Amino acid sequence: MTDQGPKLPETPPLADGAPAARAKGKRPSLIERAGGSDAWRGMVLPRDAAKPEIPPLDVPVMAHPAAAEAVPVATQALSAEVAPFQVASPAAQRLDAMPATQKFRGTFHAIDRKHLRDQGLIEPEGPVTALLEEFRIIKRQLLMTAAETRAGTGPVNGDRILVASALPGEGKTFCSVNLALSMAAEKDTEVLLVDADFAKPSVLSTLGLPGGPGLLDALADPRIAVEDCILGTDIAGLFVLPAGNASGSDTELLGSSRTAQVLDRLTSNARGRVVIFDSSPVLAASPASALALHVGQAVVVVRAGMTSEAALRDAIGLLSGCEDIRLLLNAAHFSPSGRRFGTYYGYKE
Ligand SMILES: Nc1ncnc2c1ncn2[C@@H]1O[C@H](COP(=O)(O)OP(=O)(O)OP(=O)(O)O)[C@@H](O)[C@H]1O
Ligand SMILES: [Mg+2]
Repeated sequence: MTDQGPKLPETPPLADGAPAARAKGKRPSLIERAGGSDAWRGMVLPRDAAKPEIPPLDVPVMAHPAAAEAVPVATQALSAEVAPFQVASPAAQRLDAMPATQKFRGTFHAIDRKHLRDQGLIEPEGPVTALLEEFRIIKRQLLMTAAETRAGTGPVNGDRILVASALPGEGKTFCSVNLALSMAAEKDTEVLLVDADFAKPSVLSTLGLPGGPGLLDALADPRIAVEDCILGTDIAGLFVLPAGNASGSDTELLGSSRTAQVLDRLTSNARGRVVIFDSSPVLAASPASALALHVGQAVVVVRAGMTSEAALRDAIGLLSGCEDIRLLLNAAHFSPSGRRFGTYYGYKE
């Protein structure tokens, strides 16, 4: 994913000796497809040489079909504690025994397109831009995996996608919202974007939606049906589930047996529906690793020149509850392949 911010006069030198000449003279470019090679290493801050080598793991870097080869990244044992299960109350059992919801209810809200544009987000019905093209490629791989899940050949819960990153500010919300907007544009896909950064929810303000009860409320109170908390939008196929009221025991709520039941109500019997979770930073808060147990795909956002390799390895280790983890390189200022989207369709800046 390219940096959508103001252009820099010159691309700063990259870690790992990536040739700055490649970037010279080019505007900040597009999706960074660090794939198929060690290219991503040039984008993250290098490991402290004094520290021992971290064993590699195979995590495919997403962003391009050619990037599907295994890329050595990191693995570590899951060290996050999973909270004890809670026993569901009789009321909860009654509600959860109901057939899974097929259609979302809830109030529909207009989304201010200018507000999206001002934040550098994809604008539905807007022109084809480099950003739009980048997310078209990113979503394709995720949707393919979701379809495989529905066909019985993909990972369990492959229609649930966790967007995470090691640390704050690496672009999780930016990528989650753009992914949701891009997927909603698919003719046969319905997207539910869940604000799962409970300590610092920002999906509602990013989309300009009003606050209200959300996932945490539905988890905490069995009388609340999660589908009643969902907000509809005037973007066809896009729905939003707010984070809800944080209580200080969010991770315990997420670790309860009720979580699986509530999340099942969002995806069961809903062909073509994808749920995207915009999570908290993995190394700063525990909910992301608890949620990783309930999703079939995780996208770890790596911010070029910001995320360190050690932090990335640590974060991936904490997400190991999810069997399909991919990297998304965000805010890159050059493309090793020289690829540029947008201009082909007449996109101009
Ligand atoms: N590719 C990009 N181009 C331009 N701006 C970006 C890009 N990615 C992220 N940003 C901007 O960087 C800032 C931080 O991004 P964002 O809020 O998505 O990060 P985050 O990982 O969700 O942070 P937090 O952990 O605090 O929730 C935002 O202002 C966002 O608009
Ligand atoms: Mg965020």
